[in-house]
Amino acid sequence: MWFIYGPPTSNPFGRDEEIRTLIGLVKNGQPVSLIGPRRIGKTSIILASLSRSSLPYVLFSAEEFIKNERGFNFQEFLSAYVSKVTNLALSLAGLKFQFTEKTRSYLKQLRELIGGVKIYLNMPEISALIDIILDKAERGKELDEEFNRVLDLPQIFAERLGIERLIIAIDEFQYLKYAKQSLPEIFHLMRSKWQFQRNVSYLISGSAVGMLKEIVSGKEQPFYQFFYSMKVNPFNRETSRNFLKKGFETEGINVSDHEIEAAVDYVDGFPAWLNLVGIKAVIERRSIRQILEDLPRDENVINAIEGDIRKLSPSAKSVLRKLATLGGKGRLKDLGDDVWTVNRGISQLTRYGYVEKEERGIYRIVDPMVVHYLNQGYKDGGSKGAENLAGRDG
Ligand SMILES: Nc1ncnc2c1ncn2[C@@H]1O[C@H](COP(=O)(O)OP(=O)(O)OP(=O)(O)O)[C@@H](O)[C@H]1O
Ligand SMILES: [Mg+2]
Repeated sequence: MWFIYGPPTSNPFGRDEEIRTLIGLVKNGQPVSLIGPRRIGKTSIILASLSRSSLPYVLFSAEEFIKNERGFNFQEFLSAYVSKVTNLALSLAGLKFQFTEKTRSYLKQLRELIGGVKIYLNMPEISALIDIILDKAERGKELDEEFNRVLDLPQIFAERLGIERLIIAIDEFQYLKYAKQSLPEIFHLMRSKWQFQRNVSYLISGSAVGMLKEIVSGKEQPFYQFFYSMKVNPFNRETSRNFLKKGFETEGINVSDHEIEAAVDYVDGFPAWLNLVGIKAVIERRSIRQILEDLPRDENVINAIEGDIRKLSPSAKSVLRKLATLGGKGRLKDLGDDVWTVNRGISQLTRYGYVEKEERGIYRIVDPMVVHYLNQGYKDGGSKGAENLAGRDG
């Protein structure tokens, strides 16, 4: 099927320029941060770039290691780093390593890998490091001292195996902020190692736009002037139109130009929502007009947006709700009576990437579906949208 909702795609439509640019940068050793709001297609661009680059790479998401409210599983993160990088090295050395146990635990994977490392890599200092990590992890000891050496691994492997360039890609990078509880200097250590590694390119990305920007461009931050920032924008009108048109042609359903325009008006160029509209048109065989009308009440939309909004504080929720009633745009003074609450709310919304500041002090909800969803909730009086925004702390 042309339209896919949910998982990222390794063959994203209309992103050839972004992909070409990204490949060019990482091939030259330029660290890159890919920044854009939720569901805009960041991971898809990364997947496509990594596979089209033909370079060896490691990809993982820092979100995996978030335990609960802000807790970060540093032991698993470190195990994942070592396990993935080592696995790549083994495969570059010609060994396809098979984990015997299907496990989600990276520490367990690392335990299985150590044998392969000892037999095939002949790098005693690396097996010694992994032994120490395994031993300490078993005894529940902190692993922060080992992190420094773990950061060296990719470069060491590249040199030993004669790899000109490899890529380490970390998606949802902003979540590493929470690893500071285990290792306050984590970003500082990363930068101090990464900047001297001649054969490794680093690619990070994230949807908490404000948070990520703070990490990579704050003057006081360790990553200041390290990454080249690439912003992922919604499709432009033309691309959105073509994406739907081609999709409907491929699926053999008749949709008028007028309806396609209406869909693009409604969801802007957010690929996730364009896909959802497409799927519904294919499956439900209803008119686009009817589909759009019901879209804010669609189970998929509810789950996605509720899931995001749940993480916001009460003040952020109230500002977001107010912005939605204003059609998605407004000035601070229109967003509530209590200046302090409004400021706090808008600041969280910007950090998380829901809202962007435009010129002349105007704030805008980035994803039009959020606006539709919230306003729909209102129209229905007590529907889920409004109810949830009444909000608890969180
Ligand atoms: N260029 C594209 N062409 C077709 N579908 C796309 C494109 N970009 C993204 N999608 C689809 O949109 C959805 C969101 O894409 P993706 O997961 O890559 O976005 P993301 O920015 O990484 O989102 P998140 O912030 O949730 O991680 C996926 O279902 C994906 O298949
Ligand atoms: Mg993603």
